[in-house]
Amino acid sequence: MTELSDLKPVKDIPGWFPWLDQRLFAHFLSEDAVVPRGDLVELGTYMGKSAALIGQFLNPGETFTVLDLFGATPGDEPNAVENARSYSRLTRDRFEQYYLSVHDELPVIVQDYSSAIVDHVKPGTARFVHVDASHLYEHVAVDVGSARRIMLPDGVVVFDDFRSWHTPGVAAGVWEAVIDRGLRPIATSLQKFYGTFGDPAPHQDRLIGWVRSHPRHRFETVEIAGHPLVRVWDDESVARQKGGGDAKSANLSRISADVAALDKRLTVIDRRLAAVQRDLAERSQSTGRRALRAARRWAASARR
Ligand SMILES: C[S@@+](CC[C@H](N)C(=O)[O-])C[C@H]1O[C@@H](n2cnc3c(N)ncnc32)[C@H](O)[C@@H]1O
Repeated sequence: MTELSDLKPVKDIPGWFPWLDQRLFAHFLSEDAVVPRGDLVELGTYMGKSAALIGQFLNPGETFTVLDLFGATPGDEPNAVENARSYSRLTRDRFEQYYLSVHDELPVIVQDYSSAIVDHVKPGTARFVHVDASHLYEHVAVDVGSARRIMLPDGVVVFDDFRSWHTPGVAAGVWEAVIDRGLRPIATSLQKFYGTFGDPAPHQDRLIGWVRSHPRHRFETVEIAGHPLVRVWDDESVARQKGGGDAKSANLSRISADVAALDKRLTVIDRRLAAVQRDLAERSQSTGRRALRAARRWAASARR
Protein backbone atom coordinates (compact mmCIF):
# COMPACT_ATOMS: atom_id res chain seq x y z
CA MET A 1 0.00 0.00 0.00
CA THR A 2 1.28 3.47 -0.91
CA GLU A 3 1.74 5.83 2.06
CA LEU A 4 2.31 9.58 2.10
CA SER A 5 5.99 8.99 2.90
CA ASP A 6 6.37 7.13 -0.44
CA LEU A 7 5.30 10.22 -2.42
CA LYS A 8 7.01 13.37 -3.64
CA PRO A 9 6.18 16.11 -1.10
CA VAL A 10 3.83 18.95 -2.06
CA LYS A 11 4.79 21.20 0.86
CA ASP A 12 6.31 23.90 -1.38
CA ILE A 13 3.08 24.40 -3.34
CA PRO A 14 0.79 27.09 -1.85
CA GLY A 15 -2.68 25.88 -0.88
CA TRP A 16 -4.85 24.37 1.81
CA PHE A 17 -4.18 20.66 2.29
CA PRO A 18 -3.70 19.45 5.89
CA TRP A 19 -1.28 16.67 6.67
CA LEU A 20 -4.01 14.25 7.86
CA ASP A 21 -5.95 14.70 4.60
CA GLN A 22 -2.80 14.13 2.57
CA ARG A 23 -2.48 10.80 4.37
CA LEU A 24 -6.16 9.99 3.83
CA PHE A 25 -5.92 10.82 0.11
CA ALA A 26 -2.97 8.42 -0.17
CA HIS A 27 -5.07 5.81 1.65
CA PHE A 28 -8.13 6.17 -0.62
CA LEU A 29 -6.05 6.39 -3.82
CA SER A 30 -3.69 3.53 -3.05
CA GLU A 31 -3.39 0.50 -5.33
CA ASP A 32 -5.20 -1.67 -2.75
CA ALA A 33 -8.17 0.75 -2.42
CA VAL A 34 -11.73 -0.59 -2.72
CA VAL A 35 -11.84 0.81 -6.27
CA PRO A 36 -8.21 0.71 -7.41
CA ARG A 37 -8.68 1.65 -11.08
CA GLY A 38 -10.52 4.51 -12.79
CA ASP A 39 -10.11 8.16 -13.64
CA LEU A 40 -9.21 10.95 -11.22
CA VAL A 41 -10.89 14.35 -11.06
CA GLU A 42 -10.35 17.57 -9.11
CA LEU A 43 -12.70 20.57 -9.15
CA GLY A 44 -10.80 23.60 -7.81
CA THR A 45 -7.02 23.24 -7.98
CA TYR A 46 -5.74 26.67 -6.91
CA MET A 47 -1.93 26.36 -7.35
CA GLY A 48 -2.05 22.57 -7.46
CA LYS A 49 -1.17 21.39 -3.95
CA SER A 50 -3.81 18.63 -3.76
CA ALA A 51 -3.70 18.02 -7.54
CA ALA A 52 0.05 17.34 -7.39
CA LEU A 53 -0.56 14.67 -4.75
CA ILE A 54 -3.58 13.08 -6.49
CA GLY A 55 -1.65 12.98 -9.79
CA GLN A 56 0.96 10.67 -8.22
CA PHE A 57 -1.67 7.91 -8.16
CA LEU A 58 -2.42 8.01 -11.88
CA ASN A 59 -2.02 4.56 -13.45
CA PRO A 60 -1.31 3.92 -17.14
CA GLY A 61 -4.53 4.19 -19.13
CA GLU A 62 -6.24 6.44 -16.57
CA THR A 63 -6.95 10.17 -17.01
CA PHE A 64 -6.56 12.90 -14.41
CA THR A 65 -8.80 15.88 -15.22
CA VAL A 66 -8.46 19.10 -13.21
CA LEU A 67 -10.78 22.07 -13.50
CA ASP A 68 -10.53 25.65 -12.26
CA LEU A 69 -11.44 29.15 -13.38
CA PHE A 70 -7.69 29.97 -13.07
CA GLY A 71 -8.35 33.63 -12.36
CA ALA A 72 -11.15 34.18 -14.93
CA THR A 73 -13.81 36.36 -13.31
CA PRO A 74 -17.04 34.46 -12.72
CA GLY A 75 -20.24 36.17 -13.88
CA ASP A 76 -21.85 35.18 -10.59
CA GLU A 77 -21.31 38.07 -8.13
CA PRO A 78 -20.83 36.16 -4.82
CA ASN A 79 -18.48 33.69 -6.56
CA ALA A 80 -16.52 36.63 -8.06
CA VAL A 81 -16.23 38.29 -4.63
CA GLU A 82 -14.95 35.08 -3.00
CA ASN A 83 -12.42 34.42 -5.77
CA ALA A 84 -11.10 38.00 -5.83
CA ARG A 85 -10.68 37.90 -2.04
CA SER A 86 -9.00 34.50 -1.77
CA TYR A 87 -7.42 33.52 -5.09
CA SER A 88 -6.25 36.78 -6.70
CA ARG A 89 -2.72 35.42 -7.37
CA LEU A 90 -3.96 32.39 -9.31
CA THR A 91 -3.16 32.03 -13.01
CA ARG A 92 -3.14 28.93 -15.18
CA ASP A 93 0.62 29.43 -15.74
CA ARG A 94 1.32 29.40 -12.01
CA PHE A 95 -0.73 26.19 -11.59
CA GLU A 96 1.20 24.53 -14.42
CA GLN A 97 4.59 25.58 -13.02
CA TYR A 98 3.80 24.23 -9.57
CA TYR A 99 2.35 20.99 -10.95
CA LEU A 100 5.44 20.45 -13.09
CA SER A 101 7.66 20.93 -10.02
CA VAL A 102 6.38 17.50 -8.93
CA HIS A 103 5.40 15.83 -12.26
CA ASP A 104 6.85 15.43 -15.75
CA GLU A 105 3.48 15.87 -17.46
CA LEU A 106 0.43 18.03 -16.94
CA PRO A 107 -3.02 16.53 -16.32
CA VAL A 108 -5.97 17.34 -18.60
CA ILE A 109 -6.72 20.97 -17.69
CA VAL A 110 -10.17 22.53 -18.06
CA GLN A 111 -10.54 26.28 -17.50
CA ASP A 112 -14.25 26.69 -16.80
CA TYR A 113 -16.97 26.63 -14.14
CA SER A 114 -17.13 23.43 -12.13
CA SER A 115 -20.54 22.65 -13.69
CA ALA A 116 -18.72 22.07 -17.01
CA ILE A 117 -16.91 18.96 -15.72
CA VAL A 118 -19.66 16.69 -17.08
CA ASP A 119 -18.67 17.81 -20.61
CA HIS A 120 -15.10 16.58 -20.07
CA VAL A 121 -15.37 13.38 -18.01
CA LYS A 122 -17.46 10.44 -19.20
CA PRO A 123 -20.28 9.18 -16.95
CA GLY A 124 -19.36 6.33 -14.57
CA THR A 125 -15.58 6.52 -15.04
CA ALA A 126 -14.02 8.26 -12.00
CA ARG A 127 -12.75 6.38 -8.94
CA PHE A 128 -11.82 9.54 -7.04
CA VAL A 129 -13.31 13.05 -7.24
CA HIS A 130 -12.06 15.94 -5.07
CA VAL A 131 -14.62 18.78 -4.90
CA ASP A 132 -12.84 21.96 -3.78
CA ALA A 133 -14.15 24.77 -6.04
CA SER A 134 -16.85 27.31 -5.13
CA HIS A 135 -18.07 27.33 -1.51
CA LEU A 136 -21.56 28.57 -2.43
CA TYR A 137 -24.46 26.21 -1.77
CA GLU A 138 -25.91 26.53 -5.29
CA HIS A 139 -22.58 25.51 -6.85
CA VAL A 140 -21.85 22.72 -4.37
CA ALA A 141 -25.32 21.28 -5.05
CA VAL A 142 -24.47 21.14 -8.79
CA ASP A 143 -21.03 19.64 -8.01
CA VAL A 144 -22.74 16.87 -6.00
CA GLY A 145 -24.85 15.98 -9.08
CA SER A 146 -21.82 16.09 -11.40
CA ALA A 147 -19.77 13.87 -9.07
CA ARG A 148 -22.57 11.34 -8.90
CA ARG A 149 -22.78 11.26 -12.69
CA ILE A 150 -19.07 10.87 -13.48
CA MET A 151 -18.18 8.44 -10.68
CA LEU A 152 -17.79 4.68 -10.71
CA PRO A 153 -20.44 3.08 -8.45
CA ASP A 154 -18.18 2.66 -5.39
CA GLY A 155 -15.75 5.52 -6.13
CA VAL A 156 -14.79 8.04 -3.46
CA VAL A 157 -15.85 11.70 -3.52
CA VAL A 158 -14.23 14.20 -1.15
CA PHE A 159 -15.73 17.57 -0.22
CA ASP A 160 -13.36 20.18 1.21
CA ASP A 161 -14.40 22.69 3.88
CA PHE A 162 -17.59 20.80 4.78
CA ARG A 163 -17.53 22.28 8.32
CA SER A 164 -15.58 25.55 8.23
CA TRP A 165 -17.16 28.64 9.78
CA HIS A 166 -16.75 30.60 6.53
CA THR A 167 -18.26 27.91 4.23
CA PRO A 168 -21.80 27.11 5.45
CA GLY A 169 -22.87 26.60 1.81
CA VAL A 170 -20.64 23.52 1.54
CA ALA A 171 -22.08 22.09 4.77
CA ALA A 172 -25.61 22.66 3.46
CA GLY A 173 -24.85 21.02 0.09
CA VAL A 174 -23.06 18.02 1.60
CA TRP A 175 -25.59 17.17 4.33
CA GLU A 176 -28.52 17.71 1.95
CA ALA A 177 -26.88 15.16 -0.35
CA VAL A 178 -26.58 12.69 2.55
CA ILE A 179 -30.22 13.10 3.58
CA ASP A 180 -31.78 13.31 0.11
CA ARG A 181 -29.44 12.52 -2.76
CA GLY A 182 -27.87 9.14 -2.04
CA LEU A 183 -24.46 10.35 -0.80
CA ARG A 184 -23.18 7.92 1.84
CA PRO A 185 -20.63 9.13 4.38
CA ILE A 186 -17.43 7.15 4.70
CA ALA A 187 -15.45 9.42 6.98
CA THR A 188 -14.73 12.96 8.06
CA SER A 189 -11.43 14.60 8.98
CA LEU A 190 -11.13 18.06 10.52
CA GLN A 191 -11.54 19.67 7.08
CA LYS A 192 -12.92 17.15 4.59
CA PHE A 193 -15.90 14.84 4.09
CA TYR A 194 -15.21 11.49 2.38
CA GLY A 195 -18.21 9.75 0.81
CA THR A 196 -19.47 7.44 -1.92
CA PHE A 197 -22.66 6.94 -3.87
CA GLY A 198 -22.12 3.19 -3.52
CA ASP A 199 -21.58 1.00 -0.45
CA PRO A 200 -19.52 2.75 2.26
CA ALA A 201 -18.96 -0.41 4.37
CA PRO A 202 -15.88 -1.84 2.56
CA HIS A 203 -14.26 1.63 2.55
CA GLN A 204 -14.95 2.03 6.27
CA ASP A 205 -13.62 -1.44 7.19
CA ARG A 206 -10.41 -0.78 5.31
CA LEU A 207 -10.11 2.72 6.79
CA ILE A 208 -10.56 1.49 10.37
CA GLY A 209 -7.86 -1.16 9.80
CA TRP A 210 -5.52 1.56 8.53
CA VAL A 211 -6.24 3.95 11.42
CA ARG A 212 -5.62 1.14 13.93
CA SER A 213 -2.22 0.48 12.40
CA HIS A 214 -1.21 4.15 12.77
CA PRO A 215 -0.63 4.98 16.43
CA ARG A 216 -0.94 8.76 15.88
CA HIS A 217 -4.45 8.47 14.39
CA ARG A 218 -7.73 8.13 16.28
CA PHE A 219 -11.26 7.26 15.18
CA GLU A 220 -14.81 6.95 16.41
CA THR A 221 -17.88 5.67 14.53
CA VAL A 222 -21.04 7.77 14.78
CA GLU A 223 -24.43 7.58 13.04
CA ILE A 224 -25.92 10.45 11.04
CA ALA A 225 -29.56 9.93 10.03
CA GLY A 226 -28.97 6.18 10.18
CA HIS A 227 -25.72 6.30 8.18
CA PRO A 228 -22.49 5.23 9.90
CA LEU A 229 -19.58 7.67 9.62
CA VAL A 230 -15.99 7.24 10.80
CA ARG A 231 -14.57 10.38 12.41
CA VAL A 232 -10.80 10.38 11.96
CA TRP A 233 -8.38 12.73 13.68
CA ASP A 234 -4.93 12.95 15.18
CA ASP A 235 -4.20 14.70 18.47
CA GLU A 236 -1.66 17.11 16.95
CA SER A 237 -4.09 18.47 14.34
CA VAL A 238 -6.83 18.88 16.95
CA ALA A 239 -4.39 20.65 19.29
CA ARG A 240 -3.22 22.91 16.45
CA GLN A 241 -6.79 23.82 15.55
CA LYS A 242 -7.69 24.46 19.20
CA GLY A 243 -4.42 26.36 19.67
CA GLY A 244 -5.32 28.49 16.64
CA GLY A 245 -8.74 29.15 18.17
CA ASP A 246 -7.31 29.91 21.59
CA ALA A 247 -4.65 32.17 20.11
CA LYS A 248 -7.31 34.07 18.16
CA SER A 249 -9.55 34.56 21.17
CA ALA A 250 -6.54 35.52 23.31
CA ASN A 251 -5.64 38.14 20.67
CA LEU A 252 -9.21 39.43 20.61
CA SER A 253 -9.37 39.81 24.39
CA ARG A 254 -5.96 41.56 24.37
CA ILE A 255 -7.27 44.00 21.74
CA SER A 256 -10.51 44.64 23.70
CA ALA A 257 -8.47 45.24 26.89
CA ASP A 258 -6.24 47.71 24.99
CA VAL A 259 -9.30 49.52 23.60
CA ALA A 260 -10.85 49.75 27.10
CA ALA A 261 -7.58 51.14 28.54
CA LEU A 262 -7.34 53.70 25.72
CA ASP A 263 -10.94 54.68 26.35
CA LYS A 264 -10.17 55.33 30.04
CA ARG A 265 -7.11 57.44 29.14
CA LEU A 266 -9.17 59.43 26.62
CA THR A 267 -11.75 60.20 29.33
CA VAL A 268 -8.98 61.46 31.66
CA ILE A 269 -7.48 63.55 28.84
CA ASP A 270 -10.96 64.98 28.06
CA ARG A 271 -11.42 66.00 31.72
CA ARG A 272 -7.97 67.63 31.87
CA LEU A 273 -8.63 69.48 28.62
CA ALA A 274 -11.94 70.81 29.98
CA ALA A 275 -10.14 71.99 33.18
CA VAL A 276 -7.41 73.75 31.15
CA GLN A 277 -10.07 75.46 29.01
CA ARG A 278 -11.92 76.65 32.12
CA ASP A 279 -8.64 77.93 33.60
CA LEU A 280 -7.75 79.76 30.37
CA ALA A 281 -11.19 81.34 30.23
CA GLU A 282 -10.83 82.52 33.86
CA ARG A 283 -7.32 83.85 33.23
CA SER A 284 -8.35 85.75 30.13
CA GLN A 285 -11.33 87.22 32.04
CA SER A 286 -9.10 88.37 34.93
CA THR A 287 -6.45 89.68 32.49
CA GLY A 288 -9.25 91.61 30.77
CA ARG A 289 -10.48 92.97 34.11
CA ARG A 290 -6.94 94.02 35.11
CA ALA A 291 -6.40 95.72 31.73
CA LEU A 292 -9.74 97.55 32.13
CA ARG A 293 -8.83 98.72 35.64
CA ALA A 294 -5.40 99.96 34.38
CA ALA A 295 -7.04 101.79 31.47
CA ARG A 296 -9.52 103.48 33.85
CA ARG A 297 -6.68 104.52 36.17
CA TRP A 298 -4.76 105.92 33.20
CA ALA A 299 -7.85 107.82 31.94
CA ALA A 300 -8.51 109.26 35.43
CA SER A 301 -4.94 110.45 35.84
CA ALA A 302 -4.97 111.93 32.32
CA ARG A 303 -8.12 113.92 33.15
CA ARG A 304 -6.47 115.38 36.27
C1 LIG B 1 -9.86 26.35 -2.06
S1 LIG B 1 -9.21 26.58 -3.64
C2 LIG B 1 -8.63 25.00 -4.07
C3 LIG B 1 -7.49 24.54 -3.20
C4 LIG B 1 -6.71 23.38 -3.73
N1 LIG B 1 -7.53 22.21 -3.98
C5 LIG B 1 -5.58 23.06 -2.76
O1 LIG B 1 -5.56 21.97 -2.20
O2 LIG B 1 -4.72 23.91 -2.52
C6 LIG B 1 -10.64 26.79 -4.62
C7 LIG B 1 -10.38 26.94 -6.10
O3 LIG B 1 -11.65 26.88 -6.76
C8 LIG B 1 -11.68 27.77 -7.84
N2 LIG B 1 -13.09 28.14 -8.07
C9 LIG B 1 -13.86 28.98 -7.35
N3 LIG B 1 -15.12 29.02 -7.85
C10 LIG B 1 -15.13 28.17 -8.91
C11 LIG B 1 -16.14 27.77 -9.84
N4 LIG B 1 -17.39 28.25 -9.78
N5 LIG B 1 -15.80 26.88 -10.79
C12 LIG B 1 -14.53 26.39 -10.87
N6 LIG B 1 -13.53 26.71 -10.01
C13 LIG B 1 -13.84 27.61 -9.05
C14 LIG B 1 -10.80 28.95 -7.40
O4 LIG B 1 -10.25 29.58 -8.54
C15 LIG B 1 -9.74 28.26 -6.53
O5 LIG B 1 -8.57 28.00 -7.26
